[in-house]
Amino acid sequence: DWNAEHIVDELIEGVRAQVGDGRVLLAISGGVDSSTLGLLLSRAIGDRLTAVFIDHGLLRLGEREQVEAALRPLGVNLVTVDASEEFLGALEGVSDPEEKRKIIGREFIRAFEREARKYGPFDFLAQGTLYPDVIESAGGEGAANIKSHHNVGGLPEDLQFKLVEPFRTLFKDEVREIARLLGLPDAIRMRHPFPGPGLAIRCLGAITREKLDILKRVDDIFISGLREFGLYDGCSQALAVLTPIQSVGVMGDERTYSYTTALRAVTTDDFMTAEWARLPYDFLATMSNRIVNQVHEINRVVYDITGKPPATIEWE
Ligand code: XMP
Repeated sequence: DWNAEHIVDELIEGVRAQVGDGRVLLAISGGVDSSTLGLLLSRAIGDRLTAVFIDHGLLRLGEREQVEAALRPLGVNLVTVDASEEFLGALEGVSDPEEKRKIIGREFIRAFEREARKYGPFDFLAQGTLYPDVIESAGGEGAANIKSHHNVGGLPEDLQFKLVEPFRTLFKDEVREIARLLGLPDAIRMRHPFPGPGLAIRCLGAITREKLDILKRVDDIFISGLREFGLYDGCSQALAVLTPIQSVGVMGDERTYSYTTALRAVTTDDFMTAEWARLPYDFLATMSNRIVNQVHEINRVVYDITGKPPATIEWE
């Protein structure tokens, strides 16, 4: 019999026992795991926790503000850092997907390290590792690799901390239950997964600020639309992609030559295989209209009807 309140008390006691009067550093991604961990640690050790949220400029519209608004009022000692100049600078002209991932991973460690020195010294590094991650790493599955930069590996010798991983025995659903008890807003608690490299792997090819800006607006229309029409929770993940394709269209009396965006929504149990979500045509029509009306850089909207395999969920 799984009793969330009891588990929360136990986790808090466990953290206090491990940490003593030490100081703990945590990287917040804006996802449910690290946000919930921030709340739990804050309950357990107050301001001896420093939670760091690095905004790499590849986040969704309003995401940093959303995380701040969710965690600060609940007492989490949260530092947010705008590192977008560095990330976007390092990504300039880079079009290979794996190269993009590597650069983002490297920049993340660099930025995190800088914050660790600024607010340190710390005795512990907290991570929202879940039971399936533990199994995955042990098995050496490829997916563990994909998330490697989230693990903040590769820190220098003098920044090697002891790990605090209170969720090591928990499943995602259990973390969501704990999140509910700790008061995490549903928008974050029930959020679809969002990849560490963020919109970088959805803005195909070389990234520019202009393209990112277009993608953020398209993504916001699509995700808000899914919520508005009550379709969000029925999808496991949904996203918009900005393709490098420009094609001819017409707007009023004028010929346009603008970008194509692809919308993608999937259902899956494990993200290893997935089906494309059978979203209602009327909903897709509404999304298409809103996107071309509100985002003038887009004149064509397509819906991705490919499963995984053979396609992946992300386009890069
Ligand atoms: P794919 O595209 O491989 O995605 O079918 C499967 C799941 O993994 C996420 N994903 C990533 N997550 N860093 C992450 O943290 C990455 O580089 C990355 N690539 C893919 C993807 O969003 C989906 O949930």
